[in-house]
Amino acid sequence: MKIIQVGVGKMGRAWLKAFAVTEDVELVGIVEPVAANREWAMAEYGLAPERCLDSLDAALETLEWDGTVIVTPPPSHRPLAERLLRAGKHVLIEKPLAATIDDARDLVAIAAETGQTLMVAQNYRYHDAFSTVRALVASGRIGQVRSVKIEFRKNASTIFSEGDFRYAMKHVLLVDMSIHHFDMIRALLGANAARVFAQTWHVPGGNFEFDAAASVLIAMDDGVVVSYTGNWAAYPPETSWNGAWEIIGERGRIVWAGGDLKEAEISVQERGQELERVPLEELAKGGQLGLLEAFAQAVAAGAQPETAAADNVESLGIVFAAVESAETGQVVTLG
Ligand SMILES: NC(=O)c1ccc[n+]([C@@H]2O[C@H](COP(=O)([O-])OP(=O)(O)OC[C@H]3O[C@@H](n4cnc5c(N)ncnc54)[C@H](O)[C@@H]3O)[C@@H](O)[C@H]2O)c1
Repeated sequence: MKIIQVGVGKMGRAWLKAFAVTEDVELVGIVEPVAANREWAMAEYGLAPERCLDSLDAALETLEWDGTVIVTPPPSHRPLAERLLRAGKHVLIEKPLAATIDDARDLVAIAAETGQTLMVAQNYRYHDAFSTVRALVASGRIGQVRSVKIEFRKNASTIFSEGDFRYAMKHVLLVDMSIHHFDMIRALLGANAARVFAQTWHVPGGNFEFDAAASVLIAMDDGVVVSYTGNWAAYPPETSWNGAWEIIGERGRIVWAGGDLKEAEISVQERGQELERVPLEELAKGGQLGLLEAFAQAVAAGAQPETAAADNVESLGIVFAAVESAETGQVVTLG
């Protein structure tokens, strides 16, 4: 499958690295308005100048391809994805699918109408640690899950430079980050949210214009209670990007701590027994490579990928229910 990538900023660079090693798809061009970013991509990956364009219009006029990976800031997701779907291109789009739940639902409808695949890059589902925890939950070792506690802590000012779109974004933690956590909750439990209550707050000393921390209580439709706290301007110690998890079931618990990727520490404890470390499952293709393989397979089979936009609106629904709850002070009912 021939692919073009739209957006070569911070995350766009990670995607280009994946294209350089994958055999599942072929990168035939990029679209990026900032000349310095295009030049970087040409120099780093040997892309020909006529394949590095400054607008989607120019790409649609001069290049031929099947699928597009969109790696641009959230407000541009709806217009770019709509244009591409209507031009007959399959789309793999970075999270969050869109900047509003209405735009997200419209995109799902447009994908169905045009018959194109629309998949969301929920890469956290494609990591060894998440796979290991998911398999443990599914094994039944801790019995029926009853509650999940997640704490996410990062200091964004050490990660994103001045002027980053996140610093001026409203509900930035919930919309740009917690979507990963809420999506993992749904994938682990195989359940959707029924009710959401959230409170957000401004963190003193962070670079964020708006609230960068949130506590969210989610009642899932299978009865599981999820208690989530996230802070993007946190004092040390930080957690991994996944956050620190405790999953409590009828017979025991799973503790997911430690760092990212191979540094993750996953343990299981049956009631009355010691905590026992579990080896990480090793995926042959993780992260962006896993996403690209799943995208190519779904398009070839005409099937919905696991992280299809049609499914992802349920995860994004939790995000925007939390936003609504934080703004109104009310419990928001879903479904
Ligand atoms: N899945 C993950 O782990 C992960 C991690 C980081 C970022 N992201 C997501 O990736 C997306 C981009 O984030 P980023 O950190 O790379 O942002 P960024 O600001 O560093 O880069 C965005 C790039 O998109 C370009 N751009 C903007 N509008 C465009 C348009 N209309 N057409 C083409 N290019 C355009 C900008 O010039 C810039 O180079 C966001 O949705 C973000 O949430 C995902």
